[in-house]
Amino acid sequence: MTPHKDIYIPPGGPPQQRPNPAIYAKMGEANIFRMLEDFYLRLEKSEIRPMFPEDMVQASKKSGAFFVFLLGGPPLYQQRYGAPMMRQRHLPFAIDEAARQTWLACFREVLVDADKKYQFPMEYMAEFMTFLERFSAWMVNTRAKPC
Ligand code: HEM
Repeated sequence: MTPHKDIYIPPGGPPQQRPNPAIYAKMGEANIFRMLEDFYLRLEKSEIRPMFPEDMVQASKKSGAFFVFLLGGPPLYQQRYGAPMMRQRHLPFAIDEAARQTWLACFREVLVDADKKYQFPMEYMAEFMTFLERFSAWMVNTRAKPC
C-alpha cells in the first residue's frame, strides 16, 4: 500500500470536536449501522464508486463501527480494527475536492428524513453536517488537477 506521490495536507488539521453524544443515545448502534449501509449503497451509484471495494455492504460495516464511536457510543472501530488514523487509512486513495463533494452529497441525501429513517435527533443535524464538512476536508490528500 504505497501512498501516491505529492500528498496534499489541508490547512487547519483534524477537527477537534466530535458531534454531540446525544446522537448515539437516541439512535443506538443498529440505526447507525443502517444509516452507513444506506450511505455506502448511495456511494455505489456515484462517480467515486471505483475507489471502493466490490462488496459495499461489507465495507459499510467499518464506517458503521467508526460512526458509533464518533456519535458517542463505545469504541467499536478501535476494538475491531485498531487505531483510527483516518487520514493515514485514506492515503492509498487519491481524494481531491471533487471526490469530497461527491462523498458529502451522498451523505446529505441519506440524511434526508433521518429522524424517520434512523431516529436521528434533528436538533443536532446542523452540527453533524458541519462535522462531516470539517472531517471530510481533512481527508483530502490530492490537489485538483490543473486545467
Ligand atoms: C472526503 C471524502 C472521502 C472519501 C472519498 C472516502 C473514501 C474512502 C475509501 C475509498 C475508503 C476505503 C474503503 C475500503 O477499502 O473499505 C474509505 C474508508 C473509510 N472511510 Fe472514508 N472517505 C472520505 C471521507 C471520510 C470521512 C469524513 C470519514 C469519517 C468521518 C470516513 C470514514 C471512513 C472509514 C471509517 C473507513 C474504513 C477505514 C478502514 O478501516 O479501512 N471517510 N473511505
